[in-house]
Amino acid sequence: MNPISLLFTPKPLYYYPLIHSYIFFFYLFATNISCSPDPNFDTCQPQTCGNNQTITYPFYIHGRQEPFCGYPGFDISCAPNGFPILNLSNTHYIIDQIFYQNQSLRVSNAVFSISNTSTTKGCVSPTQNLTLPSTVFRVAPNQRELTLFYGCDSLSLPRELQDHIIGCSAEKETSSVVALYKDAENVSFVAKNCKGEVVDSLVEDGVGRVQEAVRKGFLLSWTASDCSECSNTGGKCGFDSSIYKFRCYCTDRVHAAKCDPG
Ligand SMILES: *[C@@H]1O[C@H](CO)[C@@H](O)[C@H](O)[C@H]1NC(C)=O
Ligand SMILES: *[C@@H]1O[C@H](CO)[C@@H](O)[C@H](O)[C@H]1NC(C)=O
Ligand SMILES: *[C@@H]1O[C@H](CO)[C@@H](O)[C@H](O)[C@H]1NC(C)=O
Ligand SMILES: *[C@@H]1O[C@H](CO)[C@@H](O)[C@H](O)[C@H]1NC(C)=O
Ligand SMILES: *[C@@H]1O[C@H](CO)[C@@H](O)[C@H](O)[C@H]1NC(C)=O
Ligand SMILES: *[C@@H]1O[C@H](CO)[C@@H](O)[C@H](O)[C@H]1NC(C)=O
Repeated sequence: MNPISLLFTPKPLYYYPLIHSYIFFFYLFATNISCSPDPNFDTCQPQTCGNNQTITYPFYIHGRQEPFCGYPGFDISCAPNGFPILNLSNTHYIIDQIFYQNQSLRVSNAVFSISNTSTTKGCVSPTQNLTLPSTVFRVAPNQRELTLFYGCDSLSLPRELQDHIIGCSAEKETSSVVALYKDAENVSFVAKNCKGEVVDSLVEDGVGRVQEAVRKGFLLSWTASDCSECSNTGGKCGFDSSIYKFRCYCTDRVHAAKCDPG
């Protein structure tokens, strides 16, 4: 007997428990469907480029993670050595560490990064001035501006400036690259005596000798919708660019800010 005729044919009372069990099984079936995770929740699992740095919202790996798992402007790529790479003004910066808890990251120009093992003979390739995409990344507190001078004749440099040579120029290996803080007293002397390009960069303050500081890089802070409320309720953060809004992907469905409790 099918359930419809069961409902519409008058029956003695003892048939009614059967109706209840139909309703019960239908309920079980329906809740099972809604328990299978939302596809975006599964898609937006954290990943790595090969080293131990976790890549998750607001960052996403271009071509390997969906843009909706990250925030606009936070696409990164992976270097063959397993380090994540951030493009700033068309220059590769190696991401040495991401501090998700305080929205900051340490990066270093790939050309002289401590994390770049392929920098041959300590020679420094040409590079570009650091410029930040204003709305996304900003310089963290306690960073110092630095200028790199290419094409310096190391023999004509006084002893106190020999300490500031960070390597030979990759373009002309007989010449040197000198790194000076913007406020250093000898900037004008170096500027006059170095014939190559002049590049603005940053280092973290108080790291030690300038050679080491340049290789270690500097700290940036970022601005993106906060993920903590969503992740604390078991969700995965993301961004829907069609409506230009933060999204919280939960096991049941997509939410605006956080997963509903229970
Ligand atoms: C990654 O982390 C594991 C465990 O914490 C550690 O044993 C390993 O050496 C790390 N690898 C790298 C490349 O840092
Ligand atoms: C980063 O910049 C380089 C050099 O301009 C470019 O070839 C590369 O496609 C860029 N990568 C990304 C992820 O934007
Ligand atoms: C974020 O935390 C890390 C680790 O505690 C720290 O080294 C870094 O300076 C902090 N970033 C900022 C912008 O304060
Ligand atoms: C390391 O430095 C070399 C030479 O400056 C550069 O060509 C290469 O792209 C850098 N490696 C990475 C992983 O960016
Ligand atoms: C970097 O910017 C300075 C001005 O601040 C400019 O003189 C210099 O040519 C720029 N360097 C490069 C490599 O574009
Ligand atoms: C560099 O600066 C120091 C301190 O002001 C000064 O004594 C020295 O003469 C300068 N050297 C050159 C080559 O300008």
